[in-house]
Amino acid sequence: MQICKTIAELKKKIKEIKNEGKTVGFVPTMGYLHEGHLSLMRQARKENDFVIISIFVNPTQFEPNEDLATYPRDLQRDVELAKSVGVELIFAPEAEEIYPENYKTIVEVIDLSQSLCGVTRPGHFKGVCTVVTKLFNIVQPDRAYFGQKDAQQVIIIRQMVKDLHIPVEVIAGPIVREADGLAMSSRNKYLKSEERQAALVLFKALTIAREAIQTGERRAELIEQIIIQMIAKEPSVIIDYVSVVSGVTLEKISHLEGQVLIALAVFIGKTRLIDNIMLEVA
Ligand code: PAF
Repeated sequence: MQICKTIAELKKKIKEIKNEGKTVGFVPTMGYLHEGHLSLMRQARKENDFVIISIFVNPTQFEPNEDLATYPRDLQRDVELAKSVGVELIFAPEAEEIYPENYKTIVEVIDLSQSLCGVTRPGHFKGVCTVVTKLFNIVQPDRAYFGQKDAQQVIIIRQMVKDLHIPVEVIAGPIVREADGLAMSSRNKYLKSEERQAALVLFKALTIAREAIQTGERRAELIEQIIIQMIAKEPSVIIDYVSVVSGVTLEKISHLEGQVLIALAVFIGKTRLIDNIMLEVA
């Protein structure tokens, strides 16, 4: 396994791989890997000749009041985990390598970035789109893998790739959960034990919403209320948003039909958690 810290080093290696006619699967991450990331890497391993991941805590996608400074980092642990699932190369640049002084370009996907997480995090998706475009240009992967837990991110990146004619196939991997239902996230590390217990209400709320839909409920507002009432049983969990939207356009819907995304974000103490379910509703 090779670790590249600079773009020049990485490009040299990529040239060799492409010259050998190999396909490249790419998993961009911010590190502190968990099973959710590893499942994407395993999928990339199956579908490509060569697997590259990036580990880069991207400063531009954090709001000024957020956890950039404390975001968990452990490169040695990540290297071992990535190795265990067959990753061949890790790109782990410093911030200055990606954002040299006086850089002037940002990438923004309008409309899709303003709703859901974009309300509380107005600059977040600009940061994500800018870094992902840079990483795609540097790595030139055939396929790139993202977790469905960040459902809005997946939809925005697909739109960006289409609009900017970026020659990469975007693949979304399913949410990976702990045995008790908590969606895996690097930020789960912040949770104290009673907060982690309280966080279980998110998947419980999404599960009862799914059950209501399975028994025929189609009113979006009612589904949102079911979730809000369930979460209210845990007073330490403060809702940022609970939203039933089109799983294609992210627009609010009133009647559930077709591809539907039920997404939520909450604060537990200082930790912001997101979760969602995507459903095909007849
Ligand atoms: O999903 C993430 O971890 C990040 O948003 C990404 C895609 C690696 C960009 O920094």
